[in-house]
Amino acid sequence: MESKPCIESLTVKNSHVLPPDTNSHGTLFGGKLMAYIDDVAAIASVRHCRKPVVTASTDSVDFLQPVFEGDTICLEAFVTATHNTSMEVFVKAITENLLTGDRKVCATAFLSMVAVDENNEPTPVPGVYPESEQEKWLHEGAERRRLHRKERRKESKELAEKFGTGLPWMDRS
Ligand SMILES: CC(C)(COP(=O)(O)OP(=O)(O)OC[C@H]1O[C@@H](n2cnc3c(N)ncnc32)[C@H](O)[C@@H]1OP(=O)(O)O)[C@@H](O)C(=O)NCCC(=O)NCCS
Repeated sequence: MESKPCIESLTVKNSHVLPPDTNSHGTLFGGKLMAYIDDVAAIASVRHCRKPVVTASTDSVDFLQPVFEGDTICLEAFVTATHNTSMEVFVKAITENLLTGDRKVCATAFLSMVAVDENNEPTPVPGVYPESEQEKWLHEGAERRRLHRKERRKESKELAEKFGTGLPWMDRS
């Protein structure tokens, strides 16, 4: 499979922040922002590999700024690195007050998306190459982040095994 430039997967999503998606402080629900992040990352990764994908993991998301009702939220995503069947996607979320033009980065995140075949088994994806300085910086850090995720996944599996499917009260004697 031929490698593709990062820019080929660039995906931009703009939304108005309206009451059904805001909390009692008049700001966007964190869960709603996470859903937007997942959606834009999914589109970017499918654009890259042209195969169905699943979200394997999301690295930590820090909500850096509140997003107010009436503002807009703009998400930008692109594939920064690939391994065999997985793709790392970087997402940046910007909030904008349309009346003043004031713009702030309100969150960033890395997601790992895995391409799957008709049996939902992981399937290979094309490589990706960076061109701009920012893309190169993100691409260079990808292997370090991948190894970190590998460790974290191991711990998650251990936790799942240790706690199983039982309810906490079943553990009391
Ligand atoms: C993600 C999933 C497809 C991995 O399948 P698997 O059979 O465990 O496959 P493997 O262990 O061989 O991993 C396949 C690839 O996924 C990557 N991967 C798996 N879990 C990962 C995680 N938690 N974070 C980052 N990458 C992960 C592996 O590193 C590997 O990448 P590579 O092929 O590029 O080296 C599988 O666990 C799954 O379907 N999970 C549920 C996904 C889902 O439903 N998401 C929506 C959220 S509800």
